[in-house]
Formats: sequence, C-alpha cells, structure tokens
Amino acid sequence: MPIEIRPLSTSMGAEVLGADFSKPVSNEDFASILQAFYDYQVLAIRDQNLSPADQIAFSERFGTLEDQLNSRYILPEEPKILVLSNDVKPDGTPVGLIDAGDFWHTDSSHRPLPSMATILYSLKNPDEGGDTGFANMYAAYEALPQSMKDSLDGRRAVQAVSKFKNKRVVASERRPDATEKYTEQMAIPDALHPAIRTHPVTGRKALYVSQRFTIGLEGMSEAEADPILDFLFEHQTKADFVYYHHWQDNDLVMWDNRCVIHRATGGYTYPDVRLMHRTVIAGDAPY
Ligand code: OGA
Ligand code: MN
Repeated sequence: MPIEIRPLSTSMGAEVLGADFSKPVSNEDFASILQAFYDYQVLAIRDQNLSPADQIAFSERFGTLEDQLNSRYILPEEPKILVLSNDVKPDGTPVGLIDAGDFWHTDSSHRPLPSMATILYSLKNPDEGGDTGFANMYAAYEALPQSMKDSLDGRRAVQAVSKFKNKRVVASERRPDATEKYTEQMAIPDALHPAIRTHPVTGRKALYVSQRFTIGLEGMSEAEADPILDFLFEHQTKADFVYYHHWQDNDLVMWDNRCVIHRATGGYTYPDVRLMHRTVIAGDAPY
C-alpha cells in the first residue's frame, strides 16, 4: 500500500500515513518522503513503533548524524539519540533534557555547520501542552518588504549559543545546570551566517535569523541592528507562517532547519510526562 501524504495546515507541514519505518525503507517510499520533506518542510509520520536502532537507521537515510550537543542525556546504547523529557528517575535525577528549545530557533545555527534536519520521535505525550511551534521561513522571507530584503541581502547575522549573550531570552529555571552551562558557553565563538540563506535543494530563499540565537547583524552597531532584529522576530512568527504541532504518541516528526524555525511551547508539569527521542542530521555551511 503506498504511503499517503496529507497537508496539516496552510502554512506548512504534512502528515504521513501508512508507513512503517521499523522495517527497511524501500527506495520508492524514501523518495516520496524526501519529496514531501522538500514540499512541506515539516513531516509528521504517524503511528511508528521504533526501537532506538530503527530510528537511527531511518535517520541515516537522510545523511550523516550529528553527535548530540548535550552528552548528559544521550542513550547509552545509541549515543546519537538524545532524550528529551521532564521525567525523573527514582533517585530524583532527570531522565532527559528538560525545556529544550523554549525560544524560537533553528537547530545549531550558532555552529559553523548548522543542522540540516531534526527528527523527534514521541514515545509519551503529556495530557496537556507539549506542542511544538514551527514557522515557515520561505514564507517569512517572501513576505518581507522589498526594502528589508534589499538591506538584508548579503548581510550576515551573528549567532550566539550562550543565553547569557542574548538579552531577548532567559535561562530556564527548570534546568538544573543552566548557569554553569551558559557561563561555559560564553567562550564559544559566535557564528556568522547569511541572514537570508538559499536552500541547497529547492533553491528558495529563507530568512535565517531567530530570537534564541541571533544577537546582532555584522557591520551594524547594536543600536542600528536592534530595530531590524525586533522587526524580524515579530514578523517571522506571524500566524500566517506558523503551524503548531499537537503530538500524538508514536509520531515521528522531522523538520528542515534550513527553512523552518521552531519552538517548544511547554505547558505541562510532572508527573504529566513528555518523552522524546531526538536524532539530528548534519548540514552544510549556509549560503
Ligand atoms: C529540538 C527542539 C522542541 C520540542 O529538539 O531541537 O527544539 O518541542 N524541540 O521538543
Ligand atoms: Mn530545537
């Protein structure tokens, strides 16, 4: 039976039905998934029953996997899988990374080679909350006033990993090691990437800034850059560009970090548990 692809919203996103990625993916199914990924930017593949090894095998069809940045919550048997969760072990220590992605961002835009795609497999969803917001950066770019497109053309944005360098975000109080981590990260050099990037496959232009990581624009003072950045952060998350994913258990959701920003919306409290397994596909230098 061929897999079925159905749009999820008018902004972007599609759900994929009738697939079973616990088995090797046929070339034909892989080709339709890949095409849908380029067409819809976010895919929610429903009803998957995947072991960690199955998720790795599926993810590796798309490219080389990244090492997870946070080694504290990786799966011992599959170190390329990071656990996102608010659950706690009997001894009170966290099972996974809590509050990952709480501000709009695109994964690893603070690194010289940012992530191409991220894949989250939902094992358990909370009764309340836990949705993930996605915003379409092709559409956000296309809707910019021409004068803004012209002024951003060829300009690089400054991307910083430490939240302590960014006045528009705050460290999550729920993360036990936040202060040490963000202090340590102060030493990591900022990355410079084009504020408008061209998708290497579709050739379309996408806005490539985000509130979480973008702290400045190259060649501009803070006073010059701030009003532009404030405008862009407001603009890029307008309702027309956004899709909120309400998770079903066993959803395998993948998104294209080259043309989508995303955000965890939170809104759930232990013992209402959320549990995800995360894999990331490595990307190239933005241009
Ligand atoms: C991520 C991320 C959001 C979420 O895994 O990169 O930002 O809703 N996750 O868990
Ligand atoms: Mn993220």
